[in-house]
Order: sequence, then C-alpha cells, then structure tokens
Amino acid sequence: MTQVRKAVFPVAGLGSRFLPATKAQPKEMLPVVDKPLIQYAVEEAVAAGITDMVFITGRNKRAIEDHFDKAFELEAELEAAHKLELLEVIQNVIPKHINCIFIRQSSPLGLGHAVLCARPVVGEEPFAVLLADDFMDVDTGQKPVLAQMTEEYATHGASLLAVQDVPRANTRQYGIVSASPFADRLEKVSAIVEKPLPENAPSTLAVVGRYVLSGKIFAYLEKLGKGAGGEIQLTDGIAALMKDDPVLAYRYIGTRYDCGSKLGYLKAMFSMGLKHPELGEDFEAYVKESL
Ligand code: G1P
Repeated sequence: MTQVRKAVFPVAGLGSRFLPATKAQPKEMLPVVDKPLIQYAVEEAVAAGITDMVFITGRNKRAIEDHFDKAFELEAELEAAHKLELLEVIQNVIPKHINCIFIRQSSPLGLGHAVLCARPVVGEEPFAVLLADDFMDVDTGQKPVLAQMTEEYATHGASLLAVQDVPRANTRQYGIVSASPFADRLEKVSAIVEKPLPENAPSTLAVVGRYVLSGKIFAYLEKLGKGAGGEIQLTDGIAALMKDDPVLAYRYIGTRYDCGSKLGYLKAMFSMGLKHPELGEDFEAYVKESL
C-alpha cells in the first residue's frame, strides 16, 4: 500500500517549557497568531491526503478534543449574532470527511511508547507521525512538508524521516542520522541515535518532527526497553526497523520553527504575523517603526 491514510499526533507531553502558559491548557493549543499549533499540523496532514487523525493524549488535554469537535453553543451564538464569517471559521476547523480518534497514553513513557499506543488503530499500514511543536512553514505554491514526504513514499515505498542540518553544538536536542546519498533530497539512513553529545554525533543531520513509517515498526517498539533520558524512544524503534526495512532521510523544502522553545515560538509568531492576510501589512509597519 502506498497511500498513507493515517496520522499519529503524540500530544500527551506536559509542555513544562511553557509554564505557566501550559498550566491549564495543552502546549499544542498555543496559537500562532490565531490558530493553535495542533491545527496547523492537522491541516498539513489533511493536505497530504490523510483521513484518519489519531491523537495520543493524556491528562489536561481535553481542549484538543473539544477543538476538533462541533461547538454547539458557540455556533448557535455566532449564528444568532449573524457572525457568519466566524461561524464558517469554526465549522471548518476540520473537514467533514476526516475522522478524529483519541487514545489516552496513561503514563508518559516516551515518544516511542506514544506511537506504539496508536497500533490498535493503525495496524500494519504505513502511517505518518507529526510533532505539532515542530511548526513547518512553506512558501506560497509549495507543497506542505508532509505532502512532500507522502509523495516520496508513494515513489519509493520506504519509511521516511524529515531531516535538516543543525549546528553540531545542538545535536543533543535531536535524533541524529548517518546517511549516504540516495536520490534528490533523499539519503539512505545507515544509523540513527537519539540526542548524542556533539562529540559523539555521527553527523549533524537531525530528524525533525515529521515521519512516514512502515507499520512494521510497532513490532520493534513493543520490544524496546528504555533509551535516552530513560524513555522508550521512537529513534530506537527506527534503528531496529532499519535492520530489515529501508529508511530514508528526506531534506524537506520549507522552514521549521521549533515551537517547543520560546524563541522558536516567537519566531513562528513573527513570520506568520508578517504573512497574515489581514494583519500582515499593519504588523510589518509596526515592526519597522519599532526597530
Ligand atoms: C523528538 C525526537 C527526536 C527528534 C525531535 C524533533 O525529541 O525524540 O529524535 O529529533 O523530536 O523535534 P523531543 O523534541 O520530543 O525531545
């Protein structure tokens, strides 16, 4: 099967780096201008032709379920107030043909464990994983990053990891791959290691939060013990999968904002503010005036 139909969104994390903003709301609900991070990620999956969105949630994450559900009272109020444009905005948060499935990850055992929680829904199929705090922007007219990847998947039928070069000093924040040239923008991965020290990193090619994975990975994830940071790591599952299934690194076209960090989040807000159809011009004028 070459069509990727399912996407997994691990959203159970605590978001401690954004406290107190995330004390009572999920970090995935932080907005970039006027849309929460998770909605951008879901829209990216929809643009890649994915129809089943599987959210791996935890405590304090109810707002995500509500966000993708019908909001009866709000809709009725907007309708009564003839605020039809806003009504349309909230009715179109998710297209009608999309299924949202929520699975609770009761203990925060790591990203690999979160992905494994999706097994009963995904089965043996290839699937995507999107980490919503890696906010991926593309220029107008350019395919969104996950759509670039599902297209490569349709051609090569191999698992894919989105990658970018990072400064060597930052390798401790990422899964890092060793890879050799394969095709345009693609490299064949020969090794992958989670958050190596700069001096031990096999390269500076880092995995960012977009994956297309073979359903075979679940069998490996199931057998994993704790890895880096005492957690069950997706990276270790990929390392095990790679022994009998090819894995490709894909140098995506686009810009990534690390919205897991305050600076990355501010940068995303700034760029999306400048690009915003209603606010862009005024915001740009304000920025020029302020600097
Ligand atoms: C996770 C993965 C890591 C990957 C990163 C991308 O780490 O474990 O391999 O490079 O996402 O953002 P986290 O940022 O959740 O610590």
